[in-house]
Amino acid sequence: MFITKIHYSESRGDKAGGASRCINRPMTTMRGVAVKWLLFTILLGTWSLGWGFDERSVNPGINREYDQADPLFWQGMFEQERREVYARRHDIVAELGLKPGMQVADVGAGTGFFSLLFAPGVMPGGSVYAVDIVPNFVRAIEARARAAGLHQIIGVVNDPKDVKLPKGAIDLVFITDTYHHFEYPYSMLYSIRRALKPQGRLVIIDYKKDPDHSSPWVQRHVRSSESQVIEEVESAGFVLNTRHSLLDSQFFLEFVIAQNQN
Ligand SMILES: C[S@@+](CC[C@H](N)C(=O)[O-])C[C@H]1O[C@@H](n2cnc3c(N)ncnc32)[C@H](O)[C@@H]1O
Repeated sequence: MFITKIHYSESRGDKAGGASRCINRPMTTMRGVAVKWLLFTILLGTWSLGWGFDERSVNPGINREYDQADPLFWQGMFEQERREVYARRHDIVAELGLKPGMQVADVGAGTGFFSLLFAPGVMPGGSVYAVDIVPNFVRAIEARARAAGLHQIIGVVNDPKDVKLPKGAIDLVFITDTYHHFEYPYSMLYSIRRALKPQGRLVIIDYKKDPDHSSPWVQRHVRSSESQVIEEVESAGFVLNTRHSLLDSQFFLEFVIAQNQN
């Protein structure tokens, strides 16, 4: 099998330490990505012509557990040290290279612990959008932000197919343990791409799904492996820029908008 070696320019996306920028990709995968990209572009064309793009749910019912969510109950579930993204939260934030004035979106914010941690790093002048499809989560994050005096946090209740952020306004979209909860990944990715600034970054952290090493829960609950996530995101007009090697049980990927999509 042929291996193509792709070097992505250092100038695309901000510097975030400790990760390789030289990515090996099998040729067949690249061809698959090209075909998916073509299909995606046709779908977007029909959408922009007003013909609609009726993406089917890839995982009906995945978010049912959050119907009428009690944020305090979920705080106990999401904010515990045995969860790797929680235990390493400060390292993850440091890796993102936040700067004053940045516009950051925490998509699928849940109980909002990342939104609360991001807020000081974008000041002065920045904002953190805490985005979730569950109104109870968003209202609870707003209350936590108010109590902590973090007025730069803006709650957004979005729709499962649309991130509902202003067009071309966001420097960094951050998605942790939520990509596998997207029922309509292509619609979400399209709306995220639309919300990003031309040099904006999309970070996705999610579980490694490996038939030999992942837990039965991950095998059952998580839809895609890391390579499938990369294929899907690239076919929606992004390119993988950085693989951060910080976490053990999770992948930490950073994408930028593909040049021909700007
Ligand atoms: C497993 S929780 C992760 C929460 C948080 N990111 C964390 O790591 O603790 C998944 C979250 O994604 C939200 N979610 C699911 N689909 C979404 C979508 N299309 N847009 C925004 N949020 C979504 C759910 O409501 C839930 O809060």
